[in-house]
Amino acid sequence: MPHFARPTRSRLSVAALAVVMVSLAAPAIAETSVQYAPGGAYFRASDKFVADSGAEVYSTICAGCHMPMGQGAVGGGAYPALASNKNLASATYLVYTVINGRKGMPPFGDALDDTQIALLTNYIRSQFGNAYTDTVGAAEVRAIRPAPRAATSPR
Ligand code: HEC
Repeated sequence: MPHFARPTRSRLSVAALAVVMVSLAAPAIAETSVQYAPGGAYFRASDKFVADSGAEVYSTICAGCHMPMGQGAVGGGAYPALASNKNLASATYLVYTVINGRKGMPPFGDALDDTQIALLTNYIRSQFGNAYTDTVGAAEVRAIRPAPRAATSPR
């Protein structure tokens, strides 16, 4: 680990330093090493989201577009409601959409691991007026992923 000057009191500088440290030392940092990113979100050194409940993943990633109660929004684009959404009768449809994105929605398959997507799927399908009782696990999510990712994926 290279030596750095003592961090200043500025939170932004500390965050910037953390990012520099990640880029300098990325190969040496363990998968579980947690860093602050300037935006305030937690990332692992590998740029994965650090969240271990469906509610946390939802509020961190999905709520910004689909709104905190899944009500959706119109304005600068149409963000469909996930609340009381009949398309979510298919867990596969939801998992597939999260992994691959859909038209104006970006893909999150690289940012979220199989367990996070399973927890997120089970959360959304049991919240916001959705009452689907079947659940998915990490193995089902893995099976829906397009193909095993190369170790040095460009994304
Ligand atoms: C940047 C904004 C944005 C974010 C973030 C986002 N979505 Fe979306 N989402 C969209 C848009 C736009 C669509 C409509 C795509 C289309 O035109 O079919 C959509 C569509 C969907 C659909 C299909 C809805 C239907 O009625 O068929 C699902 C399911 C969905 N999103 C789930 C999620 C989940 C879960 C997350 C969090 C991991 C998420 N979205 C994050 C913008 C977003």
